Amino acid sequence: MLCMKKQDDDFITYNDTKYNLQGIESLAWKKLVNGSVKKKNGFRTMCVGTIDENNAAALRIVVNRKVDEVQKTIFFHTDNRSRKYNDLIKDNRISLLFYDARQRVQIVAKAYATMHTTNELANDRWKATSPQARLGYMANEPPNTKSDQLTLGYEGRFATTKPTDDESNLFEKNFSVVACTVYELEFLYLDFHGNRKASFYYKNNVLVDGNWAVP
Ligand SMILES: Cc1cc2nc3c(=O)[nH]c(=O)nc-3n(C[C@H](O)[C@H](O)[C@H](O)COP(=O)(O)O)c2cc1C
Repeated sequence: MLCMKKQDDDFITYNDTKYNLQGIESLAWKKLVNGSVKKKNGFRTMCVGTIDENNAAALRIVVNRKVDEVQKTIFFHTDNRSRKYNDLIKDNRISLLFYDARQRVQIVAKAYATMHTTNELANDRWKATSPQARLGYMANEPPNTKSDQLTLGYEGRFATTKPTDDESNLFEKNFSVVACTVYELEFLYLDFHGNRKASFYYKNNVLVDGNWAVP
């Protein structure tokens, strides 16, 4: 990439391997991909930030379900009656925060969210979801609805008996896949010898610029 060439001589040594700026960008995406496929990896979950109805930052943890490093897109699943989903309908800008203490790496991404509801992608992902995971979408009232009693949200019998396909499929309409197309990514490595930071910028799913930054 031409615009990053001037910094090509600089590198970070990470796990005994040298990475130039371009290498760090690839490494960041490899780490995100690993997080999506390895259950115990620190990047398996991420904190997602949306803008709520009072223009305040709203945060919560979700599971990193899939990462497309070619399209620079990160996917998660959610109930489309949730606050985050409604926030995203109004403003589809989303922030994603990852930190793995073991790897000593933080990645912050800013992205545009696209919601997939009752379409082919949502149906495909729903079919691959376990009965246990489907319970997350089987609440009769929207998530966060106030309740006079302590509640599971879904029918009490499902606490002990997993729902059948027919039972859970009634709730498929609540299930959405959110695709987050990254336009900015920040990589921070907490190195004993001095912290290292780099930022990257994307347009239409393509890396267009990058720079080292003061950590
Ligand atoms: C480890 C962990 C993983 C979670 N994974 C998801 C997830 O993949 N999708 C999701 O919608 N909520 C997930 N949650 C619950 C959210 O953090 C949140 O409480 C819920 O989605 C309601 O958020 P909202 O009201 O801000 O939209 C997870 C929570 C934890 C602690």
